Amino acid sequence: MTRALAAVLVSVAVGGCSPSSLSPEAERGRQTYVAQCTTCHAMDPAQPGPVGPPVKGSSRALLEAKLLRGEYPAGYQPKRPTKIMPPQPQVARELDALAAYLR
Ligand code: HEC
Repeated sequence: MTRALAAVLVSVAVGGCSPSSLSPEAERGRQTYVAQCTTCHAMDPAQPGPVGPPVKGSSRALLEAKLLRGEYPAGYQPKRPTKIMPPQPQVARELDALAAYLR
């Protein structure tokens, strides 16, 4: 890869189309979301995705239960009755960032 192309790719990855209003933590959450979740959930978390429901506003507790254990917090009314989504333990360290982004 040429140096110029590499520079373009880096600037797209760093600047890209990310809204500048996001905190660094929320921006990290956004990148995790785009990389790990948008096969099923929509690029815009407020919209239904091809497979998954909207996830905007998901609490830290909801993310932890659903992503790590495939469950819901006590008393939470799930948006769907299905259990299609596999647990996503690879994002365990990014729960705070994801919650900051989806807030
Ligand atoms: C393989 C497809 C798939 C992937 C990948 C996926 N999800 Fe889901 N997700 C779903 C489906 C389908 C549901 C609806 C419940 C069910 O069937 O499990 C769901 C439900 C959820 C819910 C619960 C919504 C509610 O309020 O009831 C949250 C939160 C969520 N996903 C977050 C995420 C996050 C964050 C990621 C990325 C780390 C992710 N999902 C990756 C398919 C997926």
